[in-house]
Amino acid sequence: MDNIYFDNGSTSWPKAPGVSETMAELLTQGAFNINRGNYEGAYEIEGLVLDTREQLARLFHARNSKGVVFTPNVTYSLNLFLKGFLRSGDHIVVTGLEHNAVMRPLEQLKGIGVTYDIAPVDREGNLKVGDLESCIHKNTKAVLTTHASNVCGTLVPIQEIGELCGKYGLIFAVDTAQTAGTLEIDMEKCKIDFLAFTGHKGLLGPQGIGGFLISERLDSEMVPLIAGGTGSLSDSLVMPENLPDKYESGTMNLPGIIGLHAALTYLEKEGIPKIHRRKMELTEYFLGKLSKIPEVRIVGRKTCESRVAVVSLDFQRKDNAVTAFELEQEAGIMTRVGLHCAPIAHQSLGTFPRGTVRFAFSAANREEEIDRCIETINKIL
Ligand code: ALA
Repeated sequence: MDNIYFDNGSTSWPKAPGVSETMAELLTQGAFNINRGNYEGAYEIEGLVLDTREQLARLFHARNSKGVVFTPNVTYSLNLFLKGFLRSGDHIVVTGLEHNAVMRPLEQLKGIGVTYDIAPVDREGNLKVGDLESCIHKNTKAVLTTHASNVCGTLVPIQEIGELCGKYGLIFAVDTAQTAGTLEIDMEKCKIDFLAFTGHKGLLGPQGIGGFLISERLDSEMVPLIAGGTGSLSDSLVMPENLPDKYESGTMNLPGIIGLHAALTYLEKEGIPKIHRRKMELTEYFLGKLSKIPEVRIVGRKTCESRVAVVSLDFQRKDNAVTAFELEQEAGIMTRVGLHCAPIAHQSLGTFPRGTVRFAFSAANREEEIDRCIETINKIL
């Protein structure tokens, strides 16, 4: 019996066709450094890195691919933003759905006099922009929100929040961990100044490569937290001011970028809307079957409206951790159980501290796998 992978909210698998082959080819045929070596092989890789920046700028509708910066992941990107932008006395508004990639840096920043408010969401994870507006104070500098909850998949209305930030002159930052490669995200239309992404979830690339896209306005107010060699302006002991070098010290994860390039090439060819439709078909199928099992609470929205393909379940009469263990033991079903590094979101959704069992689909999943999952849930209940 084949195993069933339903943990795509954590990292997607399988990766896009071409990712592993491209990375292996780089590592075996010449993993040269860029911005350093003056030989043909290094220029070729540099060209692919530039191409990847352009793919990402197209994907997120950014004005300029120079504002595409590579980091290891969303967590790293969010830390660079929060710690490089906020100063003592500043205030930021976040939402009741945030991951610890936001909450832990903010708790650290309290130590230097940064404060924050959490805009509430309801038990399904829905946020009212008016509630977020009530959290804005005189010293508020920015709003930071996830685009979709990594716990229950509920979407946050980023376009409306972008409008609100425009009205108050605030910096707007979005964590796209669960939506990049899944939904259309338009930085210009949503007035996003900072968009943090990871390559290994919906973008179908390898782990260890992510980044951010930054507006000129935010860049002019943000300091780089990491300083070092960039291969540019090497006569100077201070960091270059130009993008992306300002935020990219040290040798980059070139195999990761090349793998991401292959994944983005696949996504451009296949079409993100088509992939998203397939994931939502599977989600609808799963939600429909679950609605017939009274012992299971669907945490978050019960329909496919305003959500992504991430579904959390709370098993009312059985411990969630035991349930996840049994799903794996009985039928090889891989899920993620617990608090999903998002205790604030679980508090908002009423599932703290016991957590939930999370199922997150990719376009490679099949209805038969969901049927097997439902049969197994019924059996173990
Ligand atoms: N943040 C990732 C998740 O939600 C790892 O599982």
